[in-house]
Amino acid sequence: MSDKKNFETLAVRTQSETTQFSEHSVPLYLTSGFVFEDAEEMRASFAEEKQRDLYSRYSNPNVNEFVDKICLMEGAEAGFAFASGMAAIFSTFGALLSAGDHVVSCSSVFGATHGLFTKYFPKWNINCSYFDVKDVDKIESLIQPTTKFIYAETPTNPGVDVLDLEVLSKIAKKHGILLIIDNCFATPYLQQPIKFGADLVIHSATKLIDGQGRVLGGITVGNKELIREIYLFSRLTGPALSAFNAWVLSKSLETLAVRADRQCENALKLAEFLESHPKVKWVKYPFLKSHPQYEIAIKQMKLGGTIVAFEVEGGVDGGRNFFDNIKMCSLSANLGDTRTIVTHPASTTHAKVEPEVKKAVGITDGMVRCSLGLEHIDDIIADIKQALEA
Ligand SMILES: Cc1ncc(COP(=O)(O)O)c(C=O)c1O
Repeated sequence: MSDKKNFETLAVRTQSETTQFSEHSVPLYLTSGFVFEDAEEMRASFAEEKQRDLYSRYSNPNVNEFVDKICLMEGAEAGFAFASGMAAIFSTFGALLSAGDHVVSCSSVFGATHGLFTKYFPKWNINCSYFDVKDVDKIESLIQPTTKFIYAETPTNPGVDVLDLEVLSKIAKKHGILLIIDNCFATPYLQQPIKFGADLVIHSATKLIDGQGRVLGGITVGNKELIREIYLFSRLTGPALSAFNAWVLSKSLETLAVRADRQCENALKLAEFLESHPKVKWVKYPFLKSHPQYEIAIKQMKLGGTIVAFEVEGGVDGGRNFFDNIKMCSLSANLGDTRTIVTHPASTTHAKVEPEVKKAVGITDGMVRCSLGLEHIDDIIADIKQALEA
């Protein structure tokens, strides 16, 4: 029998060491600190001559289990887990960037990430140049001697555009810079950016990894030297994931594959339904043949993801009418939940993004982001249909 385990098996069977109680399900290690046998063990542990947990801001058995699982799933050498996706993004940038550095980023990024690039980084003299998803050829012309990395999400939030990971990685390698990918929309089950040459992969674990809308979490995995930098920064600044949230997230990973399979199936069915509905101006889903980057999506993703983006006819009023008539789906800003969620990005997740940037990345006033859950697809379609036709 081969030692190489499949994704589903790793998700279920990767577990921290069993205690003297021989428990089957992993216990919750709610402890801020850990004790030492004697002064020498304490010294050697803090000097990192001995590998062990010292303090839960640095590491904790529940957090370690969660990190180990994601590393195995993403094919990464090491990782560090955070209290939220934004903590992962900020700490990764904070650890790797210095004053005077420059970043090349896709313009279609999560609203809060855009806020870091535009509001906070300039005050530390860190600047960012944006490229459009449709204009990857422009990336090389944006790279400067001070550029540290290329940053992108794929699929993007909220427009579900897809970027070619292989192409991005070739450009990064040619210029001796890093490639950092926010893999939140795909999850490690659908796409592993490291396989295509990414150096670091970031997740908001709050989304499909938790999958049930309960806890916040984030993680960065990848090259071990880079993770070491991120670890040293985070151990001082304190954005660590809590043991409780890590325990929840590690349990959630056990069901990620089955949840994602069904949620992606629901998403494709909804996208196909919307494509033929007269009240829908356009619909985007990576595994629809009409998606502009369909060929790239099928090359690098196992399934099309759980998010469908579409625009309701009638602009702002059409959009408002749609949301006001939704009966079953949740009007919420989260995504990746077992409950189907409809969001209005223009007034919520991307409200603080400047109007011209919103326009450039295709966030229109009537755009709906639908995160497919696990309800029966007939009931999801029935709710969306009646809201479109109300
Ligand atoms: C693509 C993407 N990255 C990062 C984040 C931030 O994650 P969190 O809300 O866990 O901080 C989100 C949240 O929606 C997201 O969609």
